[in-house]
Amino acid sequence: MPHVRVPITTDRLVLRSFRPGDEADVFAYRSVPEVVRFIPGDPRTTDEVADLVAERASAGRLDVDRPALTLAVELGGRVVGDVLIHLAGPNGVDLRQVEIGWVFAPDVAGNGYATEAARALVRVSFEELGVHRVWARVEPRNEPSVRLCERLGMRREGVLKQASWFKGEWTDLAFYALLADEYRPAQQP
Ligand SMILES: CC(C)(COP(=O)(O)OP(=O)(O)OC[C@H]1O[C@@H](n2cnc3c(N)ncnc32)[C@H](O)[C@@H]1OP(=O)(O)O)[C@@H](O)C(=O)NCCC(=O)NCCS
Repeated sequence: MPHVRVPITTDRLVLRSFRPGDEADVFAYRSVPEVVRFIPGDPRTTDEVADLVAERASAGRLDVDRPALTLAVELGGRVVGDVLIHLAGPNGVDLRQVEIGWVFAPDVAGNGYATEAARALVRVSFEELGVHRVWARVEPRNEPSVRLCERLGMRREGVLKQASWFKGEWTDLAFYALLADEYRPAQQP
């Protein structure tokens, strides 16, 4: 069964399971309306964040029944964001493909932390999980995420026009992907 060895360490960050005590850090960014504009969920209450942390603290081995793993991203002892590995393809759960995602606190933006964490996910997906394809779905208006996908070397594969009813409006979905035989670890420091 696929298994992600945590924590994952990068030059500046530690990607680890959530644990009790993370609630305040997570609330600080997930309660900001601009942060959740393009991701599921509304600005969260403290109680909702506590549930989220508890649920994710139990996350471990990935399998068809539990295909998603969300990791806290710690910078100098503070959780500044969270990232997602989801074993899925366009048709749903698929152990040979990984969808990645990210959410970061606005006050740490512009330092490459999200890129660094996402690069670690790409590396783990190809080198440890051995998947065939890593992909992301992004609303084209979400320019920081579009740029992040481009920095990861992902190909923009297409845009589905108004394919998603999301937060009260029809929205476009852009798809980005990288195949295993296109992955060059050297581009993923
Ligand atoms: C998407 C999101 C994580 C991107 O944040 P970000 O700060 O732009 O991304 P990074 O942390 O990788 O930083 C990259 C920026 O820092 C700059 N930077 C500085 N040092 C850097 C470094 N060492 N490495 C890479 N980039 C660096 C880059 O030039 C880039 O700026 P630019 O986009 O203006 O060119 C953030 O906007 C977010 O959390 N949004 C809300 C949640 C969301 O929408 N999630 C995605 C749903 S699909």
